[in-house]
Amino acid sequence: MPEQKAPHEDAPLRSSSPREARSAPWWRHAVIYQVYPRSWADSDGDGVGDLPGITARLDHLVELGVDALWLSPFYPSPQADAGYDVSDYRDVDPVFGRLEDADKLLAAARERGLRVIVDLVPNHTSSEHPWFRAALAAGPGSPERARYIFRPEKPNNWESTFGGPAWTQVPDGEWYLHLFDAAQPDLNWDHPEVRAEFLDILRFWLDRGVDGFRVDVAHGLVKQADLADWHYPAELLTGTEAERPRPPMWDQDAVHEIYRDWRRLIDEYQGERVLVAEAWVQPAERLAAYVRPDEMHQAFNFEYLEASWSADAQYAVITRSLAASAAVDAPTTWVLSNHDVVRHASRLGLPVGTPRPSGIGPDDPQPDPVLGLRRARAATLLMLGLPGSAYLYQGEELGLPEHLAVPDEARQDPMFRRTGGKAKGRDGCRVPIPWEADAPSYGFGPTDASWLPQPPSWAEYAVDRQRGVPGSTYELYRAALRLRAQHTLGTGSLSWETTSEDLLAFRNSDVYVLTNFGPEPAPLPTGLTPLLSSSPLDEAGRVPQDVTVWAV
Ligand code: NOJ
Repeated sequence: MPEQKAPHEDAPLRSSSPREARSAPWWRHAVIYQVYPRSWADSDGDGVGDLPGITARLDHLVELGVDALWLSPFYPSPQADAGYDVSDYRDVDPVFGRLEDADKLLAAARERGLRVIVDLVPNHTSSEHPWFRAALAAGPGSPERARYIFRPEKPNNWESTFGGPAWTQVPDGEWYLHLFDAAQPDLNWDHPEVRAEFLDILRFWLDRGVDGFRVDVAHGLVKQADLADWHYPAELLTGTEAERPRPPMWDQDAVHEIYRDWRRLIDEYQGERVLVAEAWVQPAERLAAYVRPDEMHQAFNFEYLEASWSADAQYAVITRSLAASAAVDAPTTWVLSNHDVVRHASRLGLPVGTPRPSGIGPDDPQPDPVLGLRRARAATLLMLGLPGSAYLYQGEELGLPEHLAVPDEARQDPMFRRTGGKAKGRDGCRVPIPWEADAPSYGFGPTDASWLPQPPSWAEYAVDRQRGVPGSTYELYRAALRLRAQHTLGTGSLSWETTSEDLLAFRNSDVYVLTNFGPEPAPLPTGLTPLLSSSPLDEAGRVPQDVTVWAV
């Protein structure tokens, strides 16, 4: 439990002068909005979102006030894992449009002052990628097989993080490794052709004008040379050394050499382009190694996403994250939702301390929707009050919950299939988002087609029901983003004011941020005026439970 601290007892955890704040590179403080192309906006009515749909809706992001968008994969793919199985890294899947639609999207974003980050999937290709097809055709011992991880015998007991074995046997008897689905064979990153190919792919998209790359499974590319057995659960996340040894498939030291090469390449380009690691690595100090000055620019902070809704857990993760990134002079990042986790408006409606579920179905313990949304709004306002860069996932600005009743027959996540339904999987957070309450597919597209069913209750979350409505989640996000920019919170520094069992309060720039986790309403310090609060204050102007307030 954190102790009660005197105001300003801690030195600021990151500091910058106003001048530095103005000149800081964009990625040190940006709010980046994740667009999941399948589910954002569908221009042609086939039920799958697409690039022209995104371009047509970019003004939403301007109105919201974010700095950049990150696009999940839109490359040609058999869609065995919703596009994270890429068969051609230099084109656009027809379901999402054409290459020129990507160019148009980039241009339209640039006109609006929005940066664009694209997804890069280097750990594995699709089994339909020409390299893997050639590997299958060429047979054992061939140079084509050497680009993947083939073995004559199954060399270890590894399991796929989606469930089931991580090795699949091909008709000639050899086995290949896939840490995810069998349709996603892992590449062999010891192979110079693999390294050269990805440098070329980076160049291809940098030349088209992207501002950076979110690097999928960045901690997985290099495997321990002996492919040793692993006797712990098959998870994407590493643990602390105290809990269990470092897994032989994740976070190997040699992976960093790859990112140093990429950094050298990216630095040849003008315009502050960035690399962002999707690395499920703990503790924060090991994650920080990915954002050393000659490696990537940012890494997702999943320890923050996983932290439970209590003052002590939030205090611990915030303090640790800021210290670890400061040690390597990188910005800390913050994230609460993405396309792989239960949306935080639902997750936080589960009892405090519930481990993060991998999907929720109708037969699972159900979150409390009202409490979940209340806490989600408080968590977001706490997050956006922190210095560094924050990631938002499409739909969270609407307070969108998880779809908790996706029918099994509609589920598409390979995790559901590979675990025999034990893990519901990630479809519930990937449902197309509602724009207009009364339109077919809630305005997602011109027809009522939607690749995952939308719940009947989603009209109330639609953008057009919330725009201009005081107190709506959408207006809360807009106000928070506007004030965050005005008060330069992204480049500010944090100093704790109160860290008690129920309360967390800190200053960042000139803003005082307080979250009340406990049942007793908390008064604001005298002389402070509220700027914004995640839910109304009580009649006496005190901060009730599960509310965050910003004050000056
Ligand atoms: C992480 C991505 O975010 C997830 O959606 C995907 O299934 C795996 N990597 C495999 O690419």
